[in-house]
Amino acid sequence: MPSTSSTSRTRSRPHHSRAALAFGAVLAMLSLTTAAVHASGAQARGSAQAAGLPYQDPSLPVAQRVDDLLGRMSLDEKIGQMTQVDRTALAAAPNDLAAYRIGSVLSGGGSAPSPNSAGSWADMYDGFQRTALSTPLGIPMIYGIDAVHGDNNVYGATIFPHNIGLGATRDAGLVQQIGHATAEEVSGTGIDWDFAPCLCVARNDRWGRTYESFGETPDLPSQMTSEITGLQGETLGGPASVLATAKHYIGDGGTDGGVNEGNATLTEAELRAIHLPPFKAAVDRGVGSVMVSYSSWNGVKDHANHYLITDLLKGELGFSGFVVSDWAGVDKIDGAQGFTAAEVATAVNAGIDMVMVPTDYKAFVSDLRSDVSSGAVSTARIDDANRRILTKKFELGLFEHPLTDRSYTSTVGSADHRALARKAVRESQVLLKNDGGVLPLAKSAKVFVAGKSADDIGNQSGGWTISWQGASGATTQGTTILQGIRSAVNNSSQVTYSKTGDGISSAYDVAVAVIGETPYAEGQGDRTGSMGLDQTDLAVLAKLKASGVPVVTVLVSGRPLDIAAQLPDWKALVAAWLPGTEGNGVSDVLFGDYAPTGKLPVSWMQSASQEPVNDGDGKTPLFPYGYGLTYGTTTPPTTPPPTTPPPTTPPAGSGCTATFTLTNSWSGGFQADVSVTNKGASALGGWKVAWTQSGATISSLWNGTLAQNGSAVTVTNAPYNGAVAPGASVSFGFTANGSAPSPLPVPTCTAS
Ligand code: BGC
Ligand code: BGC
Repeated sequence: MPSTSSTSRTRSRPHHSRAALAFGAVLAMLSLTTAAVHASGAQARGSAQAAGLPYQDPSLPVAQRVDDLLGRMSLDEKIGQMTQVDRTALAAAPNDLAAYRIGSVLSGGGSAPSPNSAGSWADMYDGFQRTALSTPLGIPMIYGIDAVHGDNNVYGATIFPHNIGLGATRDAGLVQQIGHATAEEVSGTGIDWDFAPCLCVARNDRWGRTYESFGETPDLPSQMTSEITGLQGETLGGPASVLATAKHYIGDGGTDGGVNEGNATLTEAELRAIHLPPFKAAVDRGVGSVMVSYSSWNGVKDHANHYLITDLLKGELGFSGFVVSDWAGVDKIDGAQGFTAAEVATAVNAGIDMVMVPTDYKAFVSDLRSDVSSGAVSTARIDDANRRILTKKFELGLFEHPLTDRSYTSTVGSADHRALARKAVRESQVLLKNDGGVLPLAKSAKVFVAGKSADDIGNQSGGWTISWQGASGATTQGTTILQGIRSAVNNSSQVTYSKTGDGISSAYDVAVAVIGETPYAEGQGDRTGSMGLDQTDLAVLAKLKASGVPVVTVLVSGRPLDIAAQLPDWKALVAAWLPGTEGNGVSDVLFGDYAPTGKLPVSWMQSASQEPVNDGDGKTPLFPYGYGLTYGTTTPPTTPPPTTPPPTTPPAGSGCTATFTLTNSWSGGFQADVSVTNKGASALGGWKVAWTQSGATISSLWNGTLAQNGSAVTVTNAPYNGAVAPGASVSFGFTANGSAPSPLPVPTCTAS
């Protein structure tokens, strides 16, 4: 929990000393900058500083400093503290930050200074801060940013895997370290406040923000609230302490159809069971701020919901920090463009303490002022909001150390942080298929690498990277997956790369296809129709398949994709998620420098039409939540070649035979493929394969429909592979828990 007093801590922070300003220095600086801002303000502040007022005294408890300061503030100053604007809105009139006493500035996704370097971020921050300090009371502004996978707006910053990959690591300690590393990079650019972590529980992979979720069960995001401790430190105000934000409260990942900013139709029991636990965990860890979700709950916008914000979050959970609205979230309450005084009153009365306006601050300030004069918003509510905001500013030590601590600036993109990111990438890879132990690849292998995401930092980083939506291409510094592969092999000349797959031939030992999604953020990422691979990827895969070379697919995507139809063509499948800038973490797994440990943080759909599919819902996914293979200790990487029993003899005149092949086994489970061949003279309309299998239970089956009754297993065709021409084959595959059958079963096949 945050402590109530930060006094001794903030005074004993030697690392911040370079950022601390002596009062005299502040005054000297102010005398140069304030004339154009608030001529009388600078003098008033000067005398306030000289007087050494109680709120300026770091030896007093925070609560007492807040009381003292509140007692000196006008209504306009209090309204200003509740106002947050994007930096671009101040570009034309930077001094409005002081004139309107604005309490907070943000960078929306990609809103960066030019040039986009750590040093110019720090300069920009200090410029805003000096303006804020020039006001009579000298209340520092707080600057917020979306550092959602590292300090991702800053060119050259370390980009960590997006949350879905971190969920796959199951490593809350690692996530805490990532939070701390991110806080160091953020601190080095001056910024005090991070709009992270997203504690969304993504229940439908159609949602474009699925990758911002640590996973589909409430416990994964709850465990990963360790990131909050990493960002803030054990208490606010310590070394490189950055205020964290639990977002988006509440139910953002639970909307109908996975529609971004949509409506979550849920009973209160469901909302509490699925979406509340991570926020409770965050509050218990002392998270400093909470951001409200754009979404609605049973038709009511969260931004307008007094019960959720005030009663449940602040009351029942005891959240003592401040609540911020989402970007123009107040505007969306009445469904019409822009905000009105009525919407502002609704939001503030619901319990929102600071409004991410983010542009028209003049209208916002005037609306909130008129709400107070009309009585629509009480002064008690204004005071409560200010108390919450100012408490965090004091606890962070902003009054004592308002400027950038440049001792952290060189941590941006540092070797240490990149090494941590590489470790996270390694741990986040989920091995989903490994027929015949094709992985790990030998370092002497002749490798053909193809696909649009093999050599693309932008694709492997995803949305919220340099720009809001992210972009393909060399958008920032890092190591691509191809570069990782080249440095992993014995001799990089053994690696041939063709983005399009042209030039593949039987001369290669293996083809690695690095394919998947291109960057997107928020609603732009919603997928309402197909969730399959794009034409570019399918074209590459067709070329690789035609060569006959074994294909290993590395899927770079923000979520599971509908790949059941292609899976049989692949010897191995690795879900790489959106790994970020350290692509050598992927090659560490491909070449066996690290045996995979990642586990699915989400259920993997059989097909898009199965969405939503979640752990415990009774549906049979392609790969279940928690699934993930490794290179096995009981089954060495060199798995014995698949054994194939003799096929069953087809009954005279009838259709089909079935052949069971064991493709992989490990302690406690195995994977198998069954191929179905039409030996008859006429086309099959459908098929049914049956066998008995004791001591094992199928946990996941693809390209077929499973019925399991004790040891009797029956699989009928999937809707799309029932039709089999004479002489042709189709196949299905499955994984099972239990021991691999020996001898292998001989299934019967009947045409249907
Ligand atoms: C997003 C938030 C983000 C905010 C500021 C909104 O559109 O929903 O997650 O923190 O913008 O960039
Ligand atoms: C901003 C994002 C914000 C989004 C909301 C963009 O212009 O850059 O930060 O989340 O708008 O729609």
